[in-house]
Amino acid sequence: MDRFRIRGGRPLSGTITIGGAKNAALPLMAAGLLTDDRLVLTNVPRLADIVTMRALLMQHGIAVEPTDNNAASLSIGGAITNTEAPYDIVRKMRASILVLGPLVARTGEARVSLPGGCAIGARPVDLHLKGLEQMGAAISLDGGYITATAPHGLTGATIVFPFPSVGATENLLMAAALANGQTILANAAREPEITDLADCLVAMGARITGIGSDRLTIEGVKSLHGATHPIIADRIETGSYACAAAITGGTLHLKGGRLDHLGAVARTLREAGVEMTAEADGLTVKRLNGLHGIDFITEPYPGFPTDMQAQLMALMCVADGASMITENIFEDRFGHHAELNRMGANIKVHGASAIVRGKPGGLQGAPVMASDLRASFGLILAGLVATGETTVNRVYHLDRGYESAEQKLSAVGANIERVS
Ligand code: UD1
Repeated sequence: MDRFRIRGGRPLSGTITIGGAKNAALPLMAAGLLTDDRLVLTNVPRLADIVTMRALLMQHGIAVEPTDNNAASLSIGGAITNTEAPYDIVRKMRASILVLGPLVARTGEARVSLPGGCAIGARPVDLHLKGLEQMGAAISLDGGYITATAPHGLTGATIVFPFPSVGATENLLMAAALANGQTILANAAREPEITDLADCLVAMGARITGIGSDRLTIEGVKSLHGATHPIIADRIETGSYACAAAITGGTLHLKGGRLDHLGAVARTLREAGVEMTAEADGLTVKRLNGLHGIDFITEPYPGFPTDMQAQLMALMCVADGASMITENIFEDRFGHHAELNRMGANIKVHGASAIVRGKPGGLQGAPVMASDLRASFGLILAGLVATGETTVNRVYHLDRGYESAEQKLSAVGANIERVS
């Protein structure tokens, strides 16, 4: 199993190129099930999760190939020959559930393994299933699988989410594109990745209004056609490298990154003493003087994203003063705090809140263990500023969502290497 060895203390400086958004690419690939025509996605990141989604689509009978020898561009197309998403693939990646809506909408049936809990919480899929039921699908659970059938097609419905779930909004948006009649998704999630999916569906012939808002109206159409769609830049990768500039006291130009998608992350970092400047081709992040402790709460977009909580927690460990971090999205997403404490941090968790008593220069290198994808980047950040050597174990979590992280960091001056 690979691990990272990091020797901290170097301010980072230079340019990092931000890749396509993993969380946009996964639903966009699932959207390839909505037509037999070719859907070409460009700016696709090279990540373990993309490989998993490719394997899932291929076993549904869909061809997923790089175009013109360009690995960052995928062509997805072909007829669905199998409507089952097996446990062996779904257990590797919860986002596999995103094939459910497209499969039922397109073929009238789907059998998808029920995703289990994960390291950050129980993560049920009840909102996905209730929405499909409201659209006329018959749903049953048996042997660990969800079976959904709608032999005469799905029917438009008004679905009011009790909570704006990203995945449920995406699944039902894709299903509604091919349903009979009008669907309204109210209190829908409105992350930039959902807007990207909606834009691609429109390019494929879907009729959607309210894009970017929490109320999407979809007039179902009989069929969708192929399209070419560039995937938006990854705002979590952008935010993560912004934290790398901030924690090391350096300056990074994040090429391709979008300051307008960072929203609450940019506000929080600025409050902590970090300068963020939009540029024609991305943004520049620079730490001005010291970092100050700040409080923040994770919320659905445009609030502060849960996927940036671990990285900001690492930053707060070396800020001057205390910070209170409240995790509102997942019930068990502070796994990294115990590892940060092993590096000398002073973090106490009380239910959904963590108090970080920051101390500039307060982290020392240690062997630590990544518990999930974003936690692993939080630990790398801590390693970049700690005195001495840090080893981050279980970097397979990181490989699910950060392309060539160690190469990108070494190129801007970090002392980091992958050890097999
Ligand atoms: C997506 C992102 C993930 C991010 C999360 C929140 C992808 C592939 N993953 O995950 O990186 O951390 O959004 O921004 O885009 N919930 C239910 N019932 C449901 C669905 C969700 O109770 O049917 C709960 C979840 O347990 C969680 C909350 O709603 O507590 C948010 O989950 P959701 O927005 O659905 O996250 P994902 O789509 O799984």
